[in-house]
Amino acid sequence: MTRHLLITGGAGFIAGNLVHHWAAAHPHDKLVVLDALTYAGNRATIEPLIANGAVHFVEGDIGNRALVDALLAEHAITHIAHLAAESHVDRSISGPGAFLSTNVNGTFTLLEAFRAHWLAAGSPAAWRFLHVSTDEVFGSLGPSDPPFCETTAYAPRSPYAASKAASDHLALAWQHTYGLPVLLSNCSNNYGPFHFPEKLIPLTLINILLGRPIPVYGDGSNVRDWLFVEDHCRALERILLSGELGRTYCIGGNNEVSNLDLVHQLCDLVDEQAPEQGMALPVSPSRKLIRFVADRPGHDRRYAIDASRIRDELGWEPQVTVAEGLRRTVAWYLANRSWWEPLLSAEYGTYLAGQYAGQLG
Ligand code: NAD
Ligand code: TYD
Repeated sequence: MTRHLLITGGAGFIAGNLVHHWAAAHPHDKLVVLDALTYAGNRATIEPLIANGAVHFVEGDIGNRALVDALLAEHAITHIAHLAAESHVDRSISGPGAFLSTNVNGTFTLLEAFRAHWLAAGSPAAWRFLHVSTDEVFGSLGPSDPPFCETTAYAPRSPYAASKAASDHLALAWQHTYGLPVLLSNCSNNYGPFHFPEKLIPLTLINILLGRPIPVYGDGSNVRDWLFVEDHCRALERILLSGELGRTYCIGGNNEVSNLDLVHQLCDLVDEQAPEQGMALPVSPSRKLIRFVADRPGHDRRYAIDASRIRDELGWEPQVTVAEGLRRTVAWYLANRSWWEPLLSAEYGTYLAGQYAGQLG
């Protein structure tokens, strides 16, 4: 069967990487991207694939039912990987409305449109809707708590996490009630190429290259479980192709690192790689740029994932070690200034000024 795959949010970080991965791994599938090109969307991430015809790009909102209906019909979509979302916790604290609109109502619209399209086609058994979510729906762990797994109770604590939790419940309810062929994944923090500058890892790398202060929230002891984005894409591929309907899969890197440790590693990697590229850094060593700033309200202490279900049932394991993934990520940001520099717009400057209000001077 030829798959006609719609990837929502395909101009964003993870979905952009997924578009590249899928186009290379499944060149005979039809690939369509729907993306509203919000501040976080960047067409340049997938432009070469649009230009060579591997991807059909549609600019639009997942919440626009008429648009989604027309797109599903026109491209005879059989599979959806749903990644379009508002994704930054800090922005969800200062402006939660967009998170409810896209993550909750947008997902609802997409589910309803896919249900109508699937029913009209006679409810084909091979069609799939993969709802991509986060480990943040599970809340926060103490230092010695066991990691999150598929049976962990939902306990979202930020507006972002609450909106993702709501959308997860919708997706699973549509499977249970209507038999829609839905799958769900909850993944830990990703890093790698094409990551928007506001998130911790690209923010640190770009600020080092520009000689700007690196903001670390609180005392830097919060812990995240980092996964290289290509490993996440391989997991999503496994789930979409072989996952069991109505089932949840937790995905993680088994790489728990405190924020301060991570920032130290990034500083040291840039200090090592920049001279090899003939690049002089504005401030050296880069660790001198670290500034401890006011903590994020409600900041989750620790995330960690037990990924044994996807390992045992679908044979997925991370392939990229954190040392290798961070080295590749640093090399990518050093080599791809032309990708990230245009994102440092006046609008983004206003966001930074508001978010770090006078603390980076
Ligand atoms: P991102 O912010 O980099 O990209 C989101 C994309 O969605 C952007 O291209 C944006 O333009 C698009 N978009 C936003 N609202 C839209 C709308 N209403 N209609 C159409 N397109 C819209 O996000 P990301 O970090 O790549 O995350 C992708 C998905 O993966 C999200 O659902 C997120 O919850 C989930 N996730 C992210 C991480 C992570 O570490 N970044 C971890 C686990 C799960
Ligand atoms: P982030 O990349 O925003 O991902 P998430 O909050 O979804 O895990 O942040 C990762 C960690 O880094 C998180 O504990 C918050 C912290 N952080 C900072 O210390 N400083 C910053 O400027 C940012 C953006 C994040």
